[in-house]
Amino acid sequence: MRTQPGYDALAEQYELTFPDPFQTPLERHAVAAFTDMVLQHHSEGTVVDIGCGTGHVTADLAHRGLEVVGIDPSEAMLGIALKSHPEVAFRRGEANLNDTVELTDQLAPLRGVLARFSLIHVDPHRIGGVLASWAQRMPTGGVVLLAFQSTDDEGRPVAPFDHAVAPAWRWHPDEMSAQLARAGFDEAWRTISRTDPLHRFPECHLAAVRRP
Ligand SMILES: C[S@@+](CC[C@H](N)C(=O)[O-])C[C@H]1O[C@@H](n2cnc3c(N)ncnc32)[C@H](O)[C@@H]1O
Repeated sequence: MRTQPGYDALAEQYELTFPDPFQTPLERHAVAAFTDMVLQHHSEGTVVDIGCGTGHVTADLAHRGLEVVGIDPSEAMLGIALKSHPEVAFRRGEANLNDTVELTDQLAPLRGVLARFSLIHVDPHRIGGVLASWAQRMPTGGVVLLAFQSTDDEGRPVAPFDHAVAPAWRWHPDEMSAQLARAGFDEAWRTISRTDPLHRFPECHLAAVRRP
């Protein structure tokens, strides 16, 4: 099991900095659209919130009627999640579901995977394996929503950046979409929000569906 020392050390501060699940209306609507897509498909199974952090978005999904489990490698972030949302299920785990097979095989089939600002912390060389581990557990029509800091630079489609907590990479949306396609997911839609005084980088929400 991988650890997350940065988030363990800064969990309390993170919670104080981001007390609300969504920073912008677009973030809220993207998660609402994801939820509707999952519910519309009528497939069986659980939704996992990968890198759920303090669990506020996991709780939002639960309140929207999804059977959801939040997964995160940071014990301190999970501690806050469990305290703040005792009615919601949280487990210690990693983005690559094959790293915690005993847990994630209990959760399969997965009808949806949400990963908001967590895959940015996965070494780019591991992303293909991570997405494949999701695809392996998802039926046709299962929905993925990724949110990540993005780049417009096609010449450098994956670039490290100075994240305050842990090593992190920005992705060009086309490159992330290609990674999803290789793992068996077709892009459904994407949004890109531009920089503003609170956001140094563009941010992409990218939804994709498990193909047959
Ligand atoms: C920026 S926070 C986002 C938290 C939450 N998804 C949200 O939207 O509020 C990033 C989270 O990703 C988690 N994380 C870091 N590396 C991870 C990995 N390899 N697999 C899964 N989660 C990871 C961190 O522990 C942290 O809780």
